[in-house]
Amino acid sequence: MAEVNLLRSLPKTKRNVAKRKEGKDESVIAISREFGQMYFDGPREYGYGGYRYDGRWVPVARDMVQHLQLAPGMRALDIGCAKGFLVKDLMSVCPGLDVYGLDISSYALLHCEAEVVGRLHLGNALTLPFPDASFDSVVAINTIHNLDRSGCLRALGEINRICRRPDKCYVQVDAYRTAEEKDLFESWCLTALTYLTPAGWIDLFHEASYKGDYYWTILESEKATVSGEAGE
Ligand SMILES: C[S@@+](CC[C@H](N)C(=O)[O-])C[C@H]1O[C@@H](n2cnc3c(N)ncnc32)[C@H](O)[C@@H]1O
Repeated sequence: MAEVNLLRSLPKTKRNVAKRKEGKDESVIAISREFGQMYFDGPREYGYGGYRYDGRWVPVARDMVQHLQLAPGMRALDIGCAKGFLVKDLMSVCPGLDVYGLDISSYALLHCEAEVVGRLHLGNALTLPFPDASFDSVVAINTIHNLDRSGCLRALGEINRICRRPDKCYVQVDAYRTAEEKDLFESWCLTALTYLTPAGWIDLFHEASYKGDYYWTILESEKATVSGEAGE
């Protein structure tokens, strides 16, 4: 189990936290949590403000293949795959790697990349519709924090169950290091139900017996930037 930032090559994105906070109310949050058209492709107040393929996951896929030592013939799963950008890029950078995705959003799956049609499953991270030890590698990027604490434990248990190689698993989750980062995150956040300090997450990983690698999505205080393009 190691801390490693496999999303380090994503461009840093700047966020207008004040604007998000101003527009946020219970109805906006409820709509965002449906993970439908509004979350992915509606106005920025509801989520991504347009979730489109632009190739930015290609270097991430390369880093994953190298770090997790993925190889042709292995079977990999991306939990919270959305429209399948990472699934597509993992297949392109490692031809012969058998990659699948799972997401709770039928909207995302219905608007997936052409290359991944038939590879994406509609489902919930809480109960994965796959046999025990059926994958060599499982990743979940900015997904399981959308569950409450007991849901996170269940989802990590499911990863343990379906993946025969814990050293080839990677989870990235929302986190904060300071009170200021927590405030900033709470002003920005739409869908996350569990956000902890890195130490808090590591405790949760131990409790779930999760043995894979991990990293944090942190909204940094200085200029409200974040590595990657986490939707919330
Ligand atoms: C912040 S987005 C991340 C998408 C993608 N992994 C990325 O990093 O661009 C969270 C994704 O998790 C999905 N999701 C949320 N809750 C889920 C659950 N319980 N099971 C499976 N997918 C879920 C959402 O539909 C969405 O596609």
